[in-house]
Amino acid sequence: MNKLVIFASGTGTNTERIIEYFKDDPEVEITAVLSNKSTAPVLKKAERNAIEAISFDRNAFYKRDEVFDLLKNYDPDLIVLAGFLWLMPERIVSHFAGKMINLHPALLPKYGGKGMYGQHVHRAVIANNEEESGITFHYVNEAFDEGEIIKQVKMDVNAGDTPEDVADKIKSLEHAYFPKVINDLLKDNYGKE
Ligand code: GRF
Repeated sequence: MNKLVIFASGTGTNTERIIEYFKDDPEVEITAVLSNKSTAPVLKKAERNAIEAISFDRNAFYKRDEVFDLLKNYDPDLIVLAGFLWLMPERIVSHFAGKMINLHPALLPKYGGKGMYGQHVHRAVIANNEEESGITFHYVNEAFDEGEIIKQVKMDVNAGDTPEDVADKIKSLEHAYFPKVINDLLKDNYGKE
């Protein structure tokens, strides 16, 4: 059994796609969805699918070891950050080195780092007249968006595109690729088609 734990802060459209993708896969179990926001819609989505849904506060995450202990207990094969906006504590990063991935809605190393999330990214892409953007899957280290890149997928930014247009195109790419990248990593067939 491959065990997956998801961290998310918000709506959870990617988490929903991931849940859907693995629903009938006997080899993969989504053990839990964890969020720093108790009201995050993503938690309701997990509950509706009978997946453990847990929220935590800053103290439980950074000062005490509650979340770390939970994770060690779950013993996941892969931890996925799907729109999780807090920086991972160092001890969690080092304990799960090579087992934690993030999805960023731009072509890193461009448009990454603290504060670069959601519309902030797409506005900057348009302001700089970029002709392409895309998504980056990368391992998580102690800095925002700086871990080793696993895969990037590019798309065109057309003249006249607004940040919202770019956001829509990025979302579609994310939904199409995220579950597949997770599947490949879990089943160790990354890059083999
Ligand atoms: C995604 O756009 C992803 O790139 C970023 O956070 C967003 C989460 O979106 N890391 P959703 O909550 O899955 O809709």
